[in-house]
Amino acid sequence: MKKPASASDPLWYKDAIIYELHVRAFADSNNDGIGDFPGLISKLDYLQDLGVTCLWLLPFFPSPLRDDGYDIANYEDVNSSYGTLKDFKTFLDAAHQRNMQVMIELVVNHTSDQHPWFKAARLAPPGSPEREMYVWSETDQVFKEARIIFTDTEKSNWTWDEKAKAYYWHRFFSHQPDLNFDNPRVIQEVLKAMRFWLDMGVDALRMDAIPYLVERDGTNCENLAETHAVIKEIRAAIDEDYANRLILAEANQWPADVRPYFGDGDECHMAFHFPLMPRIYMALRQEDRLPITDIMAQTPSIPNNCQWGLFLRNHDELTLEMVTDDERDYMYLAYSADPRMRINVGIRRRLAPLVDNNRRRIELLNSLLLSFPGTPILYYGDEIGMGDNIYLGDRNGVRTPMQWNSDRNAGFSRCDPARLYFPVVMDPIYGYTAINVEAQLSDQSSLLHWTRNMIALRKLFQVFGRGTLRFLSPANRKILAYLRDLDRGDGSHETVLCVANLSRFAQPVALDLSDYAGYEPVEMLGYVPFPKITKTPYVLTLAQYSFLWLELHPNDGVTEVSGEGLA
Ligand code: NOJ
Repeated sequence: MKKPASASDPLWYKDAIIYELHVRAFADSNNDGIGDFPGLISKLDYLQDLGVTCLWLLPFFPSPLRDDGYDIANYEDVNSSYGTLKDFKTFLDAAHQRNMQVMIELVVNHTSDQHPWFKAARLAPPGSPEREMYVWSETDQVFKEARIIFTDTEKSNWTWDEKAKAYYWHRFFSHQPDLNFDNPRVIQEVLKAMRFWLDMGVDALRMDAIPYLVERDGTNCENLAETHAVIKEIRAAIDEDYANRLILAEANQWPADVRPYFGDGDECHMAFHFPLMPRIYMALRQEDRLPITDIMAQTPSIPNNCQWGLFLRNHDELTLEMVTDDERDYMYLAYSADPRMRINVGIRRRLAPLVDNNRRRIELLNSLLLSFPGTPILYYGDEIGMGDNIYLGDRNGVRTPMQWNSDRNAGFSRCDPARLYFPVVMDPIYGYTAINVEAQLSDQSSLLHWTRNMIALRKLFQVFGRGTLRFLSPANRKILAYLRDLDRGDGSHETVLCVANLSRFAQPVALDLSDYAGYEPVEMLGYVPFPKITKTPYVLTLAQYSFLWLELHPNDGVTEVSGEGLA
């Protein structure tokens, strides 16, 4: 018997709205300045009300926190600053009661150097099972073709260990030694950790840094066949014992290199679409749809049971690894005037500051996020337009406390402000007195209300998560227009036309919709009927940075609607 999950539909992730958050940053129940599970539980009503359906928790395991928890010292426990295992279980049950799924991190490319495995490995004799948990070498001249990822901190992927009298391999910080996936014991340990959480009822695992699991000399040590074999083994173990679970691949690669992480539907169920994200920002700044249509044209089709994960921002820098050199120069220039806004190969800013706090641009980008093929992932705080703090180190500027109200510490904690894990944002534009949940809940025209409405609207139409995509190619390239279509299986279709104006000025557009002659478009936010489509080009005028979602109804004399108008 497979262990059931909280979702009954095996493809639940196709209709999900994922919300990414850090327990540390969300709500502090015991006033020690650090968010915790009881705090998060107290905010579940807020998340349910927002309409998100799956909570992605950043790493919450015991850790020295030198990479915000991606440096794990124990895979099967909760960091005591955030609560106990019991608290986690209470949270998991409470989320499930609200029909929300829970995704946690499976960070197995590397551990912390404080993990007992590494402490034992560096003292164990070469060749021993303990030593072989990690990747060692007598020289740092091996795997030389592998690039360095944290370019601002690391000079080499090898670090000399005095105790072991050997170099150990690490793709990230030098305090994060890579596990050795050529050692079968490593896979056994990974499966054990995975089962620990899946048995408890966790619905989904985000697999961190998976392109780098296995190394081979003479290659760039990314996306190797041996790595795919490991992932297949992990997936097979899940399919064998568990129902309706999900693996999400963090593979920051070009579309053609990400495609194999779906396998034949037998590796990861989902993968982030990394190359699309910077191109959305590029298209906006260039007022030209080409960067988006171009990368989508390069995106291969994926197996039926698979799905892209879409995002505008996350807890890391806005990565520019998957763009050309020219595109990267452009992005740096356009989006990071102050060098402090840059880190590694990317830009460490939140959504609102990236678009100069322009409400129309925020809405436009979110409209793309919510209507493109895939599952949208929102980053905590972006639903209220939170700002960042570029004076904090590493990527911490986008990891500041959630802003709940205008009380002390933004309502995040009652502690002495000096005790907070990071200061709350306090500037006059994005500071917590100006930007907070409480204020936006009482303002019907706030970004929070808008986001909530858009999420609710999207959830009424399965076509967004499951339908096909076809771009239209009107002459005006400042307009991005596309059709989403879902065959309902009974001969009828759910069809939505999305039109977005990427320009800061109003734009006209003439769309060839002759295939839909006779159909009646209905604007979905207000449920407003638009003129019927004919064989001649369909002319629309869009205000600056505006967008339209139009459901196309077949001409049967009656206007049927599949959802009620919102907003
Ligand atoms: C990707 C994570 O998103 C990032 O935050 C982390 O630093 C690296 N993996 C290393 O685990």
